[in-house]
This record gives sequence, C-alpha cells and structure tokens, in this order.
Amino acid sequence: MPATPTPEEIARAAALIRASRLVAFPTETVYGLGANALDAEAVARIYKVKRRPATSPLIVHVASIEMAKSLVAEWPEAAERLARIFWPGPLTLILPTLRADLPPGPASGPMIPAIVTAGLATVGLRMPAHPIALALIRAAGVPLAAPSANRFTELSPTMAEHVRRSLGNEVDCVLDGGPCQVGIESTVLSLAGPQPILLRPGGISRRELVSILGPIASLQDAFGHEVPLGAHPSPGMHARHYSPRTPLLLVSNGELAEKGKGIYLQHAFPPNRSDIKTIQMPIAAADYASALYERLHEADEANVDWIAVDVPPTKPEWEAVQDRLRRAATRAKRTRTK
Ligand code: TXA
Ligand code: MG
Repeated sequence: MPATPTPEEIARAAALIRASRLVAFPTETVYGLGANALDAEAVARIYKVKRRPATSPLIVHVASIEMAKSLVAEWPEAAERLARIFWPGPLTLILPTLRADLPPGPASGPMIPAIVTAGLATVGLRMPAHPIALALIRAAGVPLAAPSANRFTELSPTMAEHVRRSLGNEVDCVLDGGPCQVGIESTVLSLAGPQPILLRPGGISRRELVSILGPIASLQDAFGHEVPLGAHPSPGMHARHYSPRTPLLLVSNGELAEKGKGIYLQHAFPPNRSDIKTIQMPIAAADYASALYERLHEADEANVDWIAVDVPPTKPEWEAVQDRLRRAATRAKRTRTK
C-alpha cells in the first residue's frame, strides 16, 4: 500500500492547482485529472493532455453542498435531497449553470467558464467520497474540474500507476491514494429539465435514485434512439469508451470461438477451452465493479490477442457494469464525436 499523501504534499498539490497546473487525485470511483474549475486556461490543459474533444464537458468536484450551490443558477429540492443522502459519493448532478451572458441572479457566485461545460447551459457537480480528494479541494479553495485521468476513450484509472502509465509526465503531480473502492465512474443524473434523466449508470444504482425521486427517465426515453450528438445531452456517452487496447469480446455460457491467445474473465461460466488463462471475477456486482478496470488494465498489459468477458447477469444491480462492458466491447466508432 502506498503511504497516503502528507498534509505538506496536499498543500503542494493545492498550490499547483492555484498555479493553473494539473493534479491527478484519487476518488472513490476512479482517479481524476484535476484543474481549477474557475480557470479556463488550466481546464484547456486537461483537454489537451487527455486528447479529449472540446465537445465533452467535465464534472466539477466540490467539497460541500454550499460550494455546489454557489456554482449553479438553481438548486432544486431534488438536488438538496439527493446531495444530503448520497454526497459525498458517486453521484453527479447536472444542473443549470450560472451564465456570463445573463444578468447575475440573487444566488450568483463564481462563474464556471464555458470550456468546462463544453458550452452547455448546465454543469455536472459531484462531491467525491475520498479524504484525499476533499482535502485537495479544501486546500486549493476552488472547485476542481476533473475527468477520469486517462486518455480519451481509454480505460479509466483505478490506481495511481494507471495514471502514470497513461499520462506520464504530462501531469504535474499524482496523489497516490491506493486502489479506488467503487472502481467505476459516478452515476450522472440530469436535474436540469422537467424530469430527472439518468445519463450514465454508475456507482449509485437507478433503484436507489428511484426510491428517493420516483420515476427517472433514461436517455432513450428522453431523446429516442438518435441521441442528438451535436446537442450533447450527455456527451460522455460515446459508444466506444472505457476501452482497453486489446479487443474485448463479450461471451455467454463460456462459449469461446476465438483463435489465438486470450484471457478469460470468468463470472459464472467456465470457458469451453482449457488452454485459456482464466481469471475468476468477484460474484457480487459491487465487488465486480470494484475489480473490473484493474483486471482489464492487467489483461491489457499481458500482450494477448483478445480479452473475453463472461457477461454477468442482466439484473438491475449490474446496470453500470453492463454499460461499461458494452462500451468497452464496441469497436471502431472513434469518429462519432467529430
Ligand atoms: O466518477 C466520476 O465521475 C469520475 C471521477 C474522476 O469523478 N469522473 C468522470 O469524468 O468519469 P469523465 O469526464 O470521464 O466523465 C464525465 C461525464 C461526461 O462524459 C458526461 O457524460 C457527463 O459526465 N457530464 C459532465 N457535464 C455534463 C453536462 N453539463 N451535461 C451532461 N453530461 C455531463
Ligand atoms: Mg472518462
């Protein structure tokens, strides 16, 4: 286990944030690549280092509900309830942002520059459940814009080593907090329209949200099958995302037809061939999610021709894992955001 960063290291990282530099930091979901969310130049560096298209907005990380409220034009009752229950935690709320082109309202606070939200009238906010992330935001005294700390479309990092391997010395500092517990990204929920919309399944399940809010729409309900790419209701939802470099196959009942050398991530079904390196995945959904990216990073490093995944059951608690596996297995659609 790495030693947790000392207060001096946190203070140094916070000083880098205030000096428009980039700091990778652990959260409970995945590692984030953070910059001062109020500093357009610093945020521009995030897009450059990640090679991320400017049309893909960033989540703004806060250390309190107060900080979140200061960044939005509206803080609806639903936001208050969800934040009180699930924050700090893996839930991102999409809310109307303060806009530079509108007259300041009664609650107006610091402006989030348009580069953070990809020009949208909404901003994604979350309070991460990780002591190092919260300490960094508090020490910097500003909200942190932070996507996952990997190159665009690649696997998200759940260990400091994954960040260093992906971004190398293009990041000014990596705070090492050991492996991320939740292991997949936050749930993204829009509260910016007349009905709540689940934009990305994640660490907080749909069921948990429905138990608080009542019915929640899905992207398909809200926009039909053709999600308007230009308008970007949730621009992170590119078909190909979260992908290892090695081709990833989804397999049912252990039926492997592939030639060549591979790794099999078993859930319930053993492979139909004995010459395959098999890794047993955790049986419960939360434990599976926690291990998934780490196992995929390892498999990706193993120089095999393919990674086969024994698809877990199609049950509600598996929604986020199913979503990530589907995207990781979708190939050659890199141009959709252009
Ligand atoms: O768990 C997480 O959310 C991690 C950690 C670092 O907090 N972050 C993360 O960021 O996954 P990223 O950039 O990889 O994904 C952010 C996603 C976008 O792809 C998009 O779907 C959604 O959040 N998002 C952000 N702002 C939005 C907005 N204004 N409207 C709609 N969706 C938004
Ligand atoms: Mg990401």
